[in-house]
Amino acid sequence: MRKISIYLESSLETQELHFDSRKTYAQNLFTYGLIRERPLCSGLGLCGQCKIKFVSNSPKPKPKDLQILSPRELELGYRLACIHFPESNQKIEIPSTKGYFNFSKKSQSPAVCLGIDLGTTTIKWALIHADKEVSKGQCLNPQMGAGAEVVSRLAFALESEKNRQLLTTLVQAKVGQIVSKAGENKCPLVLAGNPAMIYLFLGLEVRELSFAPFNLNYWGGCEELLNPDIPKLYIPPLLGAFVGADISAGLTYIEFERDEDGYPYLFCDLGTNGEMVLVKDSRTFLCTSVAMGPALEGVGLRFGSVFGDNDVCSRFFLTPSGLSGWPQKDFRISGSGYLSLIGILLQLGILDRNGHFQEGRHPLARKVQARLQENRLYLTEEVYLSAHDIEEILKVKAAFNLAINYLLEKAGLTFRDIRRIFIAGAFGQHVQGGSLEELGFLPQGMEAKTSFVGNTALKGSVLLCQDERARNWVEGLKDKVRYINLAHGDYLAENFAKHMRFSFVDEDRRIG
Ligand code: FES
Repeated sequence: MRKISIYLESSLETQELHFDSRKTYAQNLFTYGLIRERPLCSGLGLCGQCKIKFVSNSPKPKPKDLQILSPRELELGYRLACIHFPESNQKIEIPSTKGYFNFSKKSQSPAVCLGIDLGTTTIKWALIHADKEVSKGQCLNPQMGAGAEVVSRLAFALESEKNRQLLTTLVQAKVGQIVSKAGENKCPLVLAGNPAMIYLFLGLEVRELSFAPFNLNYWGGCEELLNPDIPKLYIPPLLGAFVGADISAGLTYIEFERDEDGYPYLFCDLGTNGEMVLVKDSRTFLCTSVAMGPALEGVGLRFGSVFGDNDVCSRFFLTPSGLSGWPQKDFRISGSGYLSLIGILLQLGILDRNGHFQEGRHPLARKVQARLQENRLYLTEEVYLSAHDIEEILKVKAAFNLAINYLLEKAGLTFRDIRRIFIAGAFGQHVQGGSLEELGFLPQGMEAKTSFVGNTALKGSVLLCQDERARNWVEGLKDKVRYINLAHGDYLAENFAKHMRFSFVDEDRRIG
């Protein structure tokens, strides 16, 4: 243990804390609750959101510091907290960050229900008022500092009982805060999330969920009463170790609210994890899941952002004078923004199908290309698209293709048989028409059959709050779902690399 002096920029107070020298600064600071409200990439050295300033005895910069931080920041003593370990006689300063808790009530009429989607990265909620107005809110999952995705979150919980309890306390406190801000501690509440988030929220042991054969010993589909700050809440059924209450809520929404009947259809919920369900008929639901990484949520990308605030670009445009669409000098880019930008670069030919920068042939390419320097496309002096960001998006695309092809193969179907694709999550909301085909997520002709349905976990939660028929339907869902593990066998290893291209690979499944 080392004694480290901490200076908090926001409060002007100095504290002396004991840090574990085997853990990084980021891990120590998270345990003390000092860098919780940040969209961290969990020590991958990619996002720069963990930067702290060494006031004394600053360590030698590591290669990732040099990559992410500007020469001026390095000179001032800034380093990435996720790659440095505490040493003797160090004093650090923690820059204050903008809090992420966005909620304002749209109506003063009483609430009839509250739906909460407990995501790995963000928590979103909707309060339905008696006059039918909907007040929406979102905030970061306070567990982010313990890992950007499910696997590292579970690993943190497995390290010690204290860690697991810390994650539970944090997220229950956040849900308590949501209930209190909503001013409604009596209205019906439904909370959806993936199995790991539900387990950690309820304070359940996560060992069986974390190791093969990945069994569930809690199945949801029941009400829970946890503490005086949170009213009794309903957790929709969990469908398997990797398919949770967010998917059962989402499927409920699709089944009850879609405009047209008919099967088969695909339901894809894309976030840090991607869950895909192929609904062959009303009684046959084949599902799988795949790690997509947090890129779609804007985490782990150099200038990525979780929320679509005013200083965040979610869509780029190509104009006669080049690229445009960003709001100001210092801005960040959402996951959708990255998809939009890469789609344009592919159209211009500035990116080849393997995601490498090249000389574009399009008449407008020259203007955009002039901003290319050392494998980075500079949008402003500070903000750029890097080769690493492109690779992260390519991995998302490959994971998406792989999971859908796998389900189709198992069901003995092709894309041609699919009547509709429902894509849930922020993915695609700002992507220009045709971009998903351009990026190779879908075969030609399939984008016209695709509906972007937003946050179905939240919409389904609200439905389950209010509709008895929906509640009955979801409780029978578990018997209809068959989970197919994509990680079993060699399919993943054999096929992943071939989908690492910005084109739809399986020519046999092109729709004419
Ligand atoms: S958490 Fe350190 S760079 Fe992302």
